[in-house]
Amino acid sequence: MAVVEIHAVSQTFGEGELAVQALKPASLAIAAGELVALLGPSGSGKSTLLLAISLIQPPTRGRIVIAGQTLYDDGPTAIDVRAFRRRHIGFVFQQHNLIPFLTAQENVALMLQINGVSRREARRRALDLLGYLEIAHRADALPARLSGGEQQRVAIGRALANEPALILADEPTAALDTERGSKVMAMLRKIARERRSAVIAVTHDHRMIEGFDTVYHLDDGRLGQAERRAAANPAAASP
Ligand SMILES: Nc1ncnc2c1ncn2[C@@H]1O[C@H](COP(=O)(O)OP(=O)(O)OP(=O)(O)O)[C@@H](O)[C@H]1O
Ligand SMILES: [Mg+2]
Repeated sequence: MAVVEIHAVSQTFGEGELAVQALKPASLAIAAGELVALLGPSGSGKSTLLLAISLIQPPTRGRIVIAGQTLYDDGPTAIDVRAFRRRHIGFVFQQHNLIPFLTAQENVALMLQINGVSRREARRRALDLLGYLEIAHRADALPARLSGGEQQRVAIGRALANEPALILADEPTAALDTERGSKVMAMLRKIARERRSAVIAVTHDHRMIEGFDTVYHLDDGRLGQAERRAAANPAAASP
């Protein structure tokens, strides 16, 4: 079963003569453990697509199914989207958005506490996750004391905290140099392979998509066909 399916999802901003179709009807399906890159020039609709999939900015039309739940069907469904998102979708943004007065560990733990995990258990699991992302040694540091790459790995830890089926990353490497960016992408790859999350990562940078299973191009709001990349991850080809 696909983790995410979207059918004819489109987004129009404005009305009448001023209407802009930022996303033309787009369809795709992504399997557990599949690592997907979304490429396209500035203004082509990449962020619009991620925001639509996560219903942070619901689309104008279309159907969105995540983990078997229909979240949107030409309009809202009965699902409590905010609660669903907290449990099932993790986000990584271009800017890390970490809370400046909480340590790395506390930033990750907070996401667990929001979902009802006790403080003690949340702190323990947060430290485990930071270890998994190879930054446990920076657990007590405030975000301002971390390098850009470290901040982004903490942000990935936060996105992973609730073991979401789907991780959406919008240009997670844009603020990083190539080496740090590659490391962040390697972490996303590890998450898809080992934790079987579906991952969609937006990037401008072709060098960042090494080892990805599937590549989509967006051009002026039009989503191209999936390009399956050879032998990256055989499991992803058969949902
Ligand atoms: N809330 C909005 N209201 C009106 N127009 C919008 C809105 N959000 C995006 N747009 C327009 O939709 C188009 C696609 O924007 P989007 O942010 O999805 O592009 P992008 O591919 O993410 O670009 P970038 O690489 O610069 O982040 C652009 O023309 C943008 O100006
Ligand atoms: Mg964008």
